[in-house]
Amino acid sequence: MKAVGVHNSLPVTDASALENVEIAKPSASGRFLLVRVHAVSVNPVDTKIRMAAGSRLEQPRILGWDCAGVVESVGPECILFKAGDEVYYAGDVTRAGCNSEYHLIDERIVGRKPAKLSFDDAAAMPLTTITAWEAMFERMNISRDPTANKGKSILIIGAAGGVGSIAIQLAKKVAGLSVVATASRPETEKWCRDLGADQVINHREALAEEFKRIGQNGVNYILCLVGTAQHWHGMADVILPQGKLCLIVDTESNQPVNINLFKPKSVAITWEFMFTRARFQTADIAEQGVLLNEASGMFDSGVLRHTRTQHYGDLNAANLLKAHAKLESGTMIGKLVLSVS
Ligand SMILES: NC(=O)c1ccc[n+]([C@@H]2O[C@H](COP(=O)([O-])OP(=O)(O)OC[C@H]3O[C@@H](n4cnc5c(N)ncnc54)[C@H](OP(=O)(O)O)[C@@H]3O)[C@@H](O)[C@H]2O)c1
Repeated sequence: MKAVGVHNSLPVTDASALENVEIAKPSASGRFLLVRVHAVSVNPVDTKIRMAAGSRLEQPRILGWDCAGVVESVGPECILFKAGDEVYYAGDVTRAGCNSEYHLIDERIVGRKPAKLSFDDAAAMPLTTITAWEAMFERMNISRDPTANKGKSILIIGAAGGVGSIAIQLAKKVAGLSVVATASRPETEKWCRDLGADQVINHREALAEEFKRIGQNGVNYILCLVGTAQHWHGMADVILPQGKLCLIVDTESNQPVNINLFKPKSVAITWEFMFTRARFQTADIAEQGVLLNEASGMFDSGVLRHTRTQHYGDLNAANLLKAHAKLESGTMIGKLVLSVS
C-alpha cells in the first residue's frame, strides 16, 4: 500500500525529508482495527518525530497521529467496532502513524466519527481534542458542570493553534469558564474571540501587564500550550492562590525552571501527554475512546465546532512536507488536513 515515510531526519527545506513509499498492507489481530484512511491531520509531534527519527533507516518511519476513516476489518477480540464503521482517532506514538492508505489501531483509543463532520473535518480533531480534554477535565479536574465553575476562569496560552482552538471551546461551552486566550496577531485574536474567548491578551507582552490592561486580577486555571519556560514567571504572576497549572510542552531546550515560584500560592502543577495511556497501556486506556465518543456527540449537537481551517490536498510527500513547513512556522490557526484517495 502507499504511504509517506521518513528514511532520514532532515530539515523541512530538504525535498527528501519525506518520501512516497510502498509498504506491506497490515492485517488486524487481537483488539486492532484495520482502518481505510480517508483523511489525516498534522501536529507538531509529526515534525518533532521527523527530526528525531534517525538516519538511513531500513524501514521508513511512518508519521501521522490524526485520522478519520472507515473500519475495513477487525481483529478477533474486537468488541467495540465492526467493518464499515466510520471512526476518528489520534493513535499511539510508539507505533506506525496513519500517513498511509490503511492503518492498524487499538480499538480502545478509537471514537465514532462525528456523523455531521466530513472525513476531512473529523480528521482535524482527535489529537487536539484528547489533549485539551484530558488536560482540563482529567489532569486539572475541572468540572464539566458550568454551575460548579461559576466565577472561575482559565488562561489558555497559545490559544489560536490546534490545541488552543478546541481548548477554548471546551472551557467556554462545556465547562462554562471565563476564558482569557493569548494571541499575538489580529487574525489569531479574531479566531480566539470567534471560538468563544472572553478576553484576548498578547503573549509577546508581560502577562501581568496584560492582565492589568484587561482589569483582571488573575485566573484559577492556566493551560500552557506553547512556551513553558518563556511564560513561567508570567504564569506565576497571574495564577490565583490555590490555582492549577497544566503544561503540555517541554521547557525550551530543556531550560530549567524554578518550581518554587508557585509555592506561595499553593499552585498544583500537572502535565498532560496525550500518548501516555497508549504508551504505557494504562488500565484506563479505553477512557480515550470514551472521551472521543463524547466529543463526537458534542460536534454532532453543535456544542463544539471543528477547527479545520486549511486543506493541503492529497496525502503525498510533497504536500505533507508543505504541511510540516506550515506547522514549523509556529503560525497555525486551527488545523490543516490532507485527504487520502
Ligand atoms: N503533551 C501533549 O499531549 C501535546 C499534545 C498536542 C500538542 N502538544 C505540543 O503543544 C504545542 C502546541 O501544539 P499546537 O498543535 O496547538 O501547535 P500550533 O497549532 O502549531 O500552535 C500555533 C499557535 O502558537 C502560537 N504561538 C506561537 N509562539 C508562541 C509563544 N511564544 N507563546 C504563546 N503562543 C505562541 C501562535 O499564536 P500567534 O500566531 O498568535 O502568535 C499560533 O497560533 C506543540 O509544541 C505540540 O508539540 C503536546
